[in-house]
Amino acid sequence: THGGISKKNAHPHRVGNVVLAHNGIVENYDELKHSVGNTHEFSSDTDSEVIAVLLHKAYTKTKSPDQAIRDVAKQITGRFAIVVMFDGIPGFFAARRGSPIIIGKAKEATYVASDIPAFLEYTQTVNYIDDNEMVYVTPSNTRVTNLITGRKVQKRDITVSWEPEEIEKGSWPHFMIKEIFDQKETILEAIHHNNKTIQSFVKKLETAKGIYLIACGTAHKVAMVAEYLFADIAHIKINVVPAAEMPSFEKFVHKNTALLAISQSGETADVLEILERGKKRGARILSITNVPSSSIARLSDAHFPINAGAEKAVASTKAATSQMALLLVCAYTASKKHTSIKTLTDIGRGVIWNTTSAINDMLNPRYAKHIEKIAKKISRHQNLFIIGRGTLYPIALEAAIKIQEVSYIHAQGFAAGELKHGPIALIEKGTPCVVLGDDPETIANAIELQSRGGFIIGIAPTQARVVDLWIRVPDCNSAQAIATVIPIQLLSYYLARARKLDPDMPRNLAKSVTVK
Ligand code: M6R
Repeated sequence: THGGISKKNAHPHRVGNVVLAHNGIVENYDELKHSVGNTHEFSSDTDSEVIAVLLHKAYTKTKSPDQAIRDVAKQITGRFAIVVMFDGIPGFFAARRGSPIIIGKAKEATYVASDIPAFLEYTQTVNYIDDNEMVYVTPSNTRVTNLITGRKVQKRDITVSWEPEEIEKGSWPHFMIKEIFDQKETILEAIHHNNKTIQSFVKKLETAKGIYLIACGTAHKVAMVAEYLFADIAHIKINVVPAAEMPSFEKFVHKNTALLAISQSGETADVLEILERGKKRGARILSITNVPSSSIARLSDAHFPINAGAEKAVASTKAATSQMALLLVCAYTASKKHTSIKTLTDIGRGVIWNTTSAINDMLNPRYAKHIEKIAKKISRHQNLFIIGRGTLYPIALEAAIKIQEVSYIHAQGFAAGELKHGPIALIEKGTPCVVLGDDPETIANAIELQSRGGFIIGIAPTQARVVDLWIRVPDCNSAQAIATVIPIQLLSYYLARARKLDPDMPRNLAKSVTVK
């Protein structure tokens, strides 16, 4: 968050008798730096170094690592997860407020990480460290205390269900392509909850005084798809707000307002902060995450795991389709069209079963090859536009994120009907335009694009005449967004490959965005 990517800014930071690694952001960094005065010459541009300076001072004074960490934690405003070593003290200390820390316990070693996959190869036994807790770790012992009171905290050993193989690429060249193909199985896993659980979750939404879906990035586009699904299927209006924009609307969050967070990691700081504040205002906190033990899940009054297995690639793929599948079943459950609520949940399940089976037919090496060829053809372009309507509008926005983050092509998604209000001016001869869907209005928009020189790539169940290149997707009715996003994921992956980029390592991005 502070300073460029350079050796001097890399963690850990050593100051005197202290070595520190920090995840998070010190919001009062300037003030703290000022308080240190000229007693220390800062050698990095990071906010983290000031924590090391304060720890060094406190430890020199108190000679107690625990006391030093507690004293310094009090001074920090913002989110942090820190790991600290003190000269002469065996093992290391870790503490958190707002950013994740997880302990992995193996027979011969203990691990501290911010995410389970970091040590899953060695152990599946974990202790979750909560906010305002500190842990002292030696190879043979783990001692957890409260960061404020210093009192001992008892932790339960928990065995996580993720298998080590899940974080291996196996014979796949990248995690991203592996996870795209994982969707043959993961979509169904997402709705692996009994009807009662789904109905009670939906009831918490339906009976709330206002519903807000809060998410970031791809998860936010999923939330937008859900907004259409709830409107079309259940005739319920939900509000979808990107977490970072929610402060403007928090005045509408009261007792019994439902805040439903959608997040793969369950650790996204912008989302977490809105939920924490919502909870204080008496809102119902609901969440759908891929990590049942995440901070968001644990903060929630009701939580749905999507059971997609570890998602390692920075670009979110399988988590998004699983989230959409679960939200679609929730929308059917909330529908008032029939009297028997049980039947409605099952209708939703039926849609997802049919969609999964159609996706299984679609997603094969020949299909991927076809998309790879299209990617190679357009990979040299610097601009690319995507249009869609209804649930395919958020998918056009999602396509833009996916293409931007792994291929660095300037991609933009638009609501098809908005083209004529400005964006069409961007179209030049040969500009690749991806058209999602084959309904008459969208095809009319595709014709407008083509007549301005656009090169039309159609992703739809049928091949319209206007289309220069066609990627077929099955007709999945209300689940069309789920089927349509998959060729987009493949296109993004192959665009990155064609541009000689590593799709698993996009520049400037992190898998879990645990800072604001
Ligand atoms: O873990 P989350 O779902 O909360 O993450 C939200 C976004 O940071 C994430 O979806 C991001 O946009 C992805 N890199 C997109 O592929």
